[in-house]
Amino acid sequence: MTQSAPGHFSASPTLTVVDHPMIAHKLTLMRDKATGSAVFRQRLREISQYLAYEATRDLPVESKTIDTPMGPTQGTQIAGRKLVLVSILRAGNGLLDGFLDILPDARVGFVGLARNEVTLKAEEYYFKIPHSIEQRRVLVVDPMLATGGSASDAITHLKNAGAVNLQFCCLVAAPEGVERLSRDHPDVPILTAALDERLNEVGYIVPGLGDAGDRIYGTVDA
Ligand code: PRP
Ligand code: URA
Repeated sequence: MTQSAPGHFSASPTLTVVDHPMIAHKLTLMRDKATGSAVFRQRLREISQYLAYEATRDLPVESKTIDTPMGPTQGTQIAGRKLVLVSILRAGNGLLDGFLDILPDARVGFVGLARNEVTLKAEEYYFKIPHSIEQRRVLVVDPMLATGGSASDAITHLKNAGAVNLQFCCLVAAPEGVERLSRDHPDVPILTAALDERLNEVGYIVPGLGDAGDRIYGTVDA
């Protein structure tokens, strides 16, 4: 693993792992099976806000003249078209909220994918994205990158719809998912808060945090 910038580690050319004590602390709370949905959602939102800053670190900027109470000055504003956040339903919405806190003017798209728990393949049930996607930076958000099937399929659909400038942001990634996504889409950078050990025999990330959608929305069976 190489350190690409302070607080950032890469295990593959397309992967950036954000290394920050506050993120590690909040993620540990989320991993704990004793943590309920309300706290889980809130910590996810907080980590997402941080990921949103990291994901937009290289956005193009332009100067803007403004008047402060002390007089005129040259400020900075984001250049180009509004970016697009694409949530992979349903757990992606848990990340979307925090990203929208930081990027309130972003356009939002949704790709409805559910992993078939027998085949582990992602099946699409919904697709709706903003217009002019080919001219916009697209941040695809989903908390879990496990086998990589959902992320890879979602990105394929987005590319087929015209997207060319894509990035994938997640909370926890498995090495298997990073490998698959980097192989299928080597042009798409991956940003994650943690790179875990492995997948188990039913495709769950270990140590992971369990089923993200169930934990966000409280649909775990008792
Ligand atoms: C989870 C997760 C990802 C996917 C990751 O969603 O949010 O979308 O699994 O697994 P993969 O990398 O092996 O494809 P799930 O299919 O459980 O649907 P949900 O968001 O509706 O709970
Ligand atoms: N989806 C999840 O929500 N968790 C995993 O560990 C794997 C896929």
